[in-house]
Amino acid sequence: MVVWSPFRLNSGREMANRFAMAPLTTDSSREDGTAPDNELEFVRRRAAGGFGAVISSAAYVADDGRSWQGIGAAHDKHLPSLRRLAEAMRAAGSLAILQIYDGGRIAKPELIGEQTMRAPSAVASLRPGAQTPRAMTSDEVESLIASFRDAASRAREAGFDGVEIHGANHYAVHQFFSPRANRRVDRWGGTLTKRMSFPLAVALAVRDALGPKLIAGFRVTPFESEPDGYTLEDSKLLCGALAGLGLDYISVSLDDYRKSRPMREVRLYNGPVEDSTPAVSPIPELARVIAGRCALMASGGIKTCRDAEGAIELGADLVAIGRAVVVDPEWLSKVRSSSEASILAGLPKDEREIAAALSIPPRMVEYLLSRPGWIPRL
Ligand SMILES: Cc1cc2nc3c(=O)[nH]c(=O)nc-3n(C[C@H](O)[C@H](O)[C@H](O)COP(=O)(O)O)c2cc1C
Repeated sequence: MVVWSPFRLNSGREMANRFAMAPLTTDSSREDGTAPDNELEFVRRRAAGGFGAVISSAAYVADDGRSWQGIGAAHDKHLPSLRRLAEAMRAAGSLAILQIYDGGRIAKPELIGEQTMRAPSAVASLRPGAQTPRAMTSDEVESLIASFRDAASRAREAGFDGVEIHGANHYAVHQFFSPRANRRVDRWGGTLTKRMSFPLAVALAVRDALGPKLIAGFRVTPFESEPDGYTLEDSKLLCGALAGLGLDYISVSLDDYRKSRPMREVRLYNGPVEDSTPAVSPIPELARVIAGRCALMASGGIKTCRDAEGAIELGADLVAIGRAVVVDPEWLSKVRSSSEASILAGLPKDEREIAAALSIPPRMVEYLLSRPGWIPRL
């Protein structure tokens, strides 16, 4: 079966199989951006299944762009924690990839303190209660690109096999590409080509910091379902340009890889109330545009080996697994040994069991349970 076959990335690094553990924020890091033991254990236990690659939760690249209390890659003081994380991720021979992000207009005011929220433009997010950010100066835009580059250098120093740029799910890189969030009229905005400049500049800076032998990936939201958002045609141009930069993979963030339903800015954990988006996956079109120049990773709703094969049949090379491995840390071992009938289909009813039985940090348990409908329950 293709899903168990190895895959060689452009950098020459080889994944032992096509499965990646998706980036999964635990919301459980220390205030200083370091990972406590229970966060490392969450990763180590899941990685033990032998994923081709394990992608970390998103690490912030700048203090004033934090959207939750997660890991940091913003300072050299983060290096020891990043080293421990890389070790936990590769405990079973997986490639270890650090995801890096900036929150832009969806940074969390409680975390960024006195600093004013800054974003491509002074346009508030659609999230209830969102503050209007301040538009970044040109110097701040350049400095944010440098922060991504420095975070990638730290990933290299900490022993990661590479970096994934979080260009999806409405965080800052996505915001620069979005005509809803980016109303600039300088070299970073105004036309589709200019809105592509920031994501491409970040990708180039990261590729440069890593050198050709480490993995550089980019996660993208394939289109925005919000009114006036960017379209699939727009992101096909972005993905085509990214594929031309010598990246290793482009990861497409979807709720369900079979459907055209990206993560909305205002999240609907119980599924969309009205879903007018077509039930057609964007994966084949993106695969056509990328045309083998780098790998394509699909994610969203993969719960069985058959689901993973389905994504590959649509044109993906790799698949990322999120909620299935949150709920069942041994998910990959069970899939590998054809014991899918024993896969845990949801979090236990008794909340007290969840943290200890599944190695989920208690704060992450709270976070998961506070969004009913997001993670299945038994
Ligand atoms: C608890 C949790 C935390 C997540 N954190 C991140 C993250 O840090 N970065 C990211 O790109 N996606 C994140 N995601 C999205 C997942 O990587 C994945 O794309 C999404 O859950 C859909 O795939 P699934 O159906 O396999 O879960 C998170 C999802 C969950 C459930």
